[in-house]
Amino acid sequence: MGDGLADLIVQDVVKRFGRVTALDGMSFEVREGEFYCLLGPSSAGKTTMLRAISGLEQLDGGRILFGGRDMAAAPIQGRGIAMIFQTFALYPHLTVRANFAYPLERAGVPAQEIRTRVGEVAELLRVGHTLDRLPSTLSGGEQQRVAIGRALVRRPQLLLLDEPLTNLDAKLRHDTRAEFKRLHRELGMTMLYATPDQLEALTMGQRVGVMQAGRVVQVDTPRSLYAAPQDTYVAGMVGSPAINLVPGTIRRRDGGFAVDLPFGTLPADAWRIHLSGGEPVLFGVRPHDVLLGHHPTRGPGFTATVHLTEPLGDVTLLDLDVNGAAMKMALPEERALGLGPGTPIEVTLSAADVHLFHAETGVRIA
Ligand SMILES: Nc1ncnc2c1ncn2[C@@H]1O[C@H](COP(=O)(O)OP(=O)(O)O)[C@@H](O)[C@H]1O
Ligand SMILES: [Mg+2]
Repeated sequence: MGDGLADLIVQDVVKRFGRVTALDGMSFEVREGEFYCLLGPSSAGKTTMLRAISGLEQLDGGRILFGGRDMAAAPIQGRGIAMIFQTFALYPHLTVRANFAYPLERAGVPAQEIRTRVGEVAELLRVGHTLDRLPSTLSGGEQQRVAIGRALVRRPQLLLLDEPLTNLDAKLRHDTRAEFKRLHRELGMTMLYATPDQLEALTMGQRVGVMQAGRVVQVDTPRSLYAAPQDTYVAGMVGSPAINLVPGTIRRRDGGFAVDLPFGTLPADAWRIHLSGGEPVLFGVRPHDVLLGHHPTRGPGFTATVHLTEPLGDVTLLDLDVNGAAMKMALPEERALGLGPGTPIEVTLSAADVHLFHAETGVRIA
């Protein structure tokens, strides 16, 4: 982290398009040198937020500060900000070299300096062999790297990335995730990366801001978001396969609490909860925290029946019927062999990893 001079501060930003409120009091802060991800579904307002930071959208409320300067007054060119769009359109009639050089020429950078910077960026992104070719002759991954290079060649202090991997195939997405981490490490640049893909956000972001309907609703490290989602919305956005949510009721018992669930009762004495009893709740357990077999030291056990199996590659997802309640369990592929539909099994819910939410508000209880 740097001296904070290039922190990005977004405060209560509102942006409307006619009757649609795209940003509805959005606030978050990105520290200088940080890799920050905005994670939100389609239409959450990710693109609008990045465009507003770039100066491409006028705000209807709130403010954006970068390096202590209010961006409303700053000219777009002088912001020290570059954005990579989801559709990384290159200039098709210009060679890769000319695509890199163009923004610098427009900014009046001397020819010698342009040559040096283009060489540096081409090396950094490993596209030196493509410099004299037209974009249409490059692979999708190479085109993407050139688009990144074209943003980096201006040496922005802040790089905005809007779903830059969405149009790439799965293998390339995997490799490019690693590439972005490397670039961030080598350049020490502040990066703000918007994505609907929780895997991208959790693997790359040092912190992740989870978006819902034009706001950031929770900011935390990937690990903390996963371990303590503040509500059922965040719990559902973070972690794959998605968390199981089972309706239950809180009951007072011997001076403590228990949760009545469709398939049995769970002691809740260990949880610091402030309830009076009788509250409807949603009990959350991730498919990876439903354990196969009897593990009394890990948590309570139940009998279940395998309903369906879904191989996902290295893990298999099992749809279970636990005394009438549906629940999903994730197992390493080899451990799921032989567990076909109809198989009766024992499962244990890992007590340290379960979550409890208010049924009505969805807010986390424990
Ligand atoms: N130029 C526009 N005109 C009208 N509505 C827009 C415009 N840009 C975005 N919106 C609306 O604003 C909301 C947020 O859009 P967007 O920022 O593109 O979300 P995301 O990038 O998260 O998918 C959506 O409802 C979208 O339809
Ligand atoms: Mg978008």
